[in-house]
Amino acid sequence: MATHREVGVGDFVLLDKIDLENFMKNLELRFKNGKIYTYIGEVCVSVNPYKTMNIYDQKHVDQYKGRELFENPPHIFAIADASHKVMQQQGKDTCIVISGESGAGKTEASKIIMKYIAAVTNKDGQKEIERVKNVLLQSNSILEAFGNAKTNRNDNSSRFGKYMDIHFDFKGDPIGGHINKYLLEKSRVIYQQAGERNFHSFYQLLTAASDEHLRKLHLSRNPDDYFFVKQGKAARVDTINDKNDFREVNSSLNTLQFSKDAQDTLWRVVAAILHLGNVEFVNDGEKLQIKNKKSIDVIAELLQVKKEELSSALCERVIAARGDIMRKEHTEAEACYGRDALAKAVYERLFGWLVDKINAAIAVDEKNYSKNYKSSLIGVLDIYGFEIFDNNSFEQFCINYCNEKLQQLFIELVLKQEQEEYNREGIEWQNIDFFNNQIICDLVEAPHKGILSIMDDASKMTAEKVTDELLLETMDKQLKTHHHYTSRQLKPADKNMKHKVDFRITHYAGDVTYCVVGFLDKNKDTLFQDFKRLMYNSRDENLKEMFPEGSQHISEITKRPPTAGTLFKNSMQALVQNLYSKEPHYVRCIKPNELKSPSAFDEERVKHQVSYLGLVENVRVRRAGFAYRQRYDRFLKRYKMISQFTWPNFRSGSDKDGVKVIMDERKFADDVKYGKTKIFIRSPRTLFALEAARNELIPGIVTLIQKTWRGYVARQQYKRMRALMTMIQAYRLKKMRTYINALQGKFVHARKAKDFGKGIIWPAPPVSLQKTTRVLKQFYNRWRAFMILSRIPRAEWPEMKLKVVAASALLNKRPRYGLSRRWEGNYLATHGENNNYTTFNDAVNNLKNSQHFGKVLFSAFVTKFNKFNKCAERVVLVTDQAVYKLDSLKFRNMKEGTGIKDLTGISVSPGQDQLIVFHCLGGNDLVVSLHSVRQEDRIGEIVGVLCNAYFQLKGTDLPVTVNKTISCSLGGKKRLININVTSEVQSATFKKDGGNISYLLPSNFAVIENGRDYIKQ
Ligand SMILES: Nc1ncnc2c1ncn2[C@@H]1O[C@H](COP(=O)(O)OP(=O)(O)OP(=O)(O)O)[C@@H](O)[C@H]1O
Ligand SMILES: [Mg+2]
Repeated sequence: MATHREVGVGDFVLLDKIDLENFMKNLELRFKNGKIYTYIGEVCVSVNPYKTMNIYDQKHVDQYKGRELFENPPHIFAIADASHKVMQQQGKDTCIVISGESGAGKTEASKIIMKYIAAVTNKDGQKEIERVKNVLLQSNSILEAFGNAKTNRNDNSSRFGKYMDIHFDFKGDPIGGHINKYLLEKSRVIYQQAGERNFHSFYQLLTAASDEHLRKLHLSRNPDDYFFVKQGKAARVDTINDKNDFREVNSSLNTLQFSKDAQDTLWRVVAAILHLGNVEFVNDGEKLQIKNKKSIDVIAELLQVKKEELSSALCERVIAARGDIMRKEHTEAEACYGRDALAKAVYERLFGWLVDKINAAIAVDEKNYSKNYKSSLIGVLDIYGFEIFDNNSFEQFCINYCNEKLQQLFIELVLKQEQEEYNREGIEWQNIDFFNNQIICDLVEAPHKGILSIMDDASKMTAEKVTDELLLETMDKQLKTHHHYTSRQLKPADKNMKHKVDFRITHYAGDVTYCVVGFLDKNKDTLFQDFKRLMYNSRDENLKEMFPEGSQHISEITKRPPTAGTLFKNSMQALVQNLYSKEPHYVRCIKPNELKSPSAFDEERVKHQVSYLGLVENVRVRRAGFAYRQRYDRFLKRYKMISQFTWPNFRSGSDKDGVKVIMDERKFADDVKYGKTKIFIRSPRTLFALEAARNELIPGIVTLIQKTWRGYVARQQYKRMRALMTMIQAYRLKKMRTYINALQGKFVHARKAKDFGKGIIWPAPPVSLQKTTRVLKQFYNRWRAFMILSRIPRAEWPEMKLKVVAASALLNKRPRYGLSRRWEGNYLATHGENNNYTTFNDAVNNLKNSQHFGKVLFSAFVTKFNKFNKCAERVVLVTDQAVYKLDSLKFRNMKEGTGIKDLTGISVSPGQDQLIVFHCLGGNDLVVSLHSVRQEDRIGEIVGVLCNAYFQLKGTDLPVTVNKTISCSLGGKKRLININVTSEVQSATFKKDGGNISYLLPSNFAVIENGRDYIKQ
């Protein structure tokens, strides 16, 4: 609970002693210290400050937004927020009833409420909601211009009642609204008391319209030129800025999207009424004449009617009697009455049309909100306040009756029902007396006996016979015993009432003397049919729309329309009924003085208001009664955390028992009473203490809830992850299984296939099996190799290996390389190839001993070509380590051997020749041509032997070049070896050919393959 410095007490319920005197003292103290709001429980008492208060800005909006009433100093914002909260949280329709006498600040309060609601809603910044809020706010300036006027009570007095429903969506944002208007005081159009003005709109037009606009409307700028606005002699008022207001009205009309035509109609009608007020009649003895005919032309132009029709409607009536249609000329008085009735009717209809147009602009778009808009709305009632003038007429009678009805509503809901609730709940209760104004309401509205009913009966009689005086007589007769009614006839000694003219009602708010003159006419509210037809026939579509009954034909017999009094009574009863159905919030406005002064506190005036508003009784009921009540279940839910016996759940009895446990433990038992379904707490202090205790515990509970919640969330997340893992695993397994099954299906017959399934296309593996698939493919390749090799005897595997190595170097490069014969390797070790094989073997052994190689892999006789372009017969011996050149007789090593791992590559030709070049480091390659007795192709064999040995030693492949022209390096010189077949040689040999080398093959050159000669072409 926020702490704030209070002046006096912020809630009258907290006064030590409750009586009028203390109430007044607190109210005055607070007013003088600028505290204009004070509560009685949830009722907000507001005293008009008559000065701009700095308490409605954004800072204050933020302070009150979403807070409880007792958390902040009393403010009307808190009431608006409470109303909005109930509406939003409980989905209940609520209403804010603002009451108080004229000038007490009702209209201002209603505007403050609307602005607050606008400020706290639409967090999402939705465009349509922004528009609705704008229209709701801006409609005020239009309605005030046409419906408010300066009276002797209030410079901006509402002369109509306004009840506005604001519809909210489920988020609590306003989505539309509807305005109900109640009885506009239209007599003001034609008549104003001294010091009063007509409706603001007339003065705004005359003061602020452009010269050109006024010229178009044939108006002068001076209000004194127009009878209808000059009677009160108060055209200019310090507190009213007509120019600014006019500008605001026009801007609002634009915001509300009034068309150019509609705005044009609006101001033409206002101008026409001004002109109408200046129309006078004379009777020249023969005929009724209009004195100033020019104004008829102007009015006809402005109302867009035919001027002849306007003249005749003003001067005569068309009557249909027994099938005949006759014209009846008016008397001068009748003509004046008709003129005034027309002015009033046109203005009233214009006002109604304006309200309709505003309603159209803020109507809830049922397309968007068809389901939920009805259940949540806030109604704001701002109606004309109770008023007493020097001369009180039918309008004051209606206005004051309206205030009686609202007071009755307040009594019913706040004073009566409250006490009835105590009885219902079985709470011991000392009844508190209050004045119930039902008796005054009955005096006005009771069927048959009430004043309205008596008036209606009188109005039904033919006009000539019944006069206001006769009405007064009837009322005197029927109401003479009523305590709240009197007249001069009934009280001859009371000189304050005029004989046969006045009657007096003792209202809840004071005595009001009404002058009966005009009551009957105003009640009947007759507008001659001629005018209705005239207006219906206007070329202006808007005006035509305002007078739909003008379409009726003269001879059509129409039912007498309900009287103004009855219409008003019905509308009031409907209003009250409507308010009953909502959860009400009250703002009770008080006027501190008659001077409109921000400092004066007129004790008598205020005391009077406090008394008739029943505020002290209100406090008594509230205090003697209970500041707070709540259903047991709800109470327990809210406060269960403050006792260990009820937290987290109370299990040892009913909700009521649980509530008792809390209150006993906290030692509040003396301050509460237990009803049948509710607990009643007497003092707000107890409630505050409960709230404080709750607030103290809330952070701990919040932490606990957060902890529990976070734990829960984490557990959920963990579970979700586990489930996810299981799912992923199952999915992977499934994918794997599917893949493996697919592989199995594909390879099931691979063993029987000729190529052992080499051609089978592997299905694409799932991501998780890509690595495995690579291994599987290796397995498969090994298996296939094994299957192929298993057909070959194991002893042949080394040779097979060499052949495979040779093939991988020569395949598709050299068509034949001796693949089909046996590769023996060390050919010179046996006599088949070498007669001196023993010498050879001895020499090799010697070499082996000195060079420490493992074994001989290949040997052959060769013709060598050297850097000196010399050929020589030699032996090439390939061991597992090196390549040696031996002489061909003694087989001695000619030079250091060349390490196999030091070879940079070998080159062979694509043909059948036996040329091979060993590329060595240092630019001296070994260029040889192999011989064999059997004329076999041994190139493949030596390539296989070298490549295999090289791979064994270095782990990489020996580069093998296969080319028709072989490039080599001899003595550091690059040379090309061209292969030529010639008859000039008997066996393969080399010859210098310029810078290059020619490798010459005999013309019968052939190698033997598969035992057959194969002759190179
Ligand atoms: N909260 C306020 N702050 C400042 N001025 C205020 C406030 N309330 C009322 N007033 C002043 O009092 C004047 C009269 O108030 P308002 O028009 O609201 O009275 P009302 O109760 O609606 O009267 P009526 O019944 O005649 O319409 C306002 O024009 C304004 O000058
Ligand atoms: Mg008002």
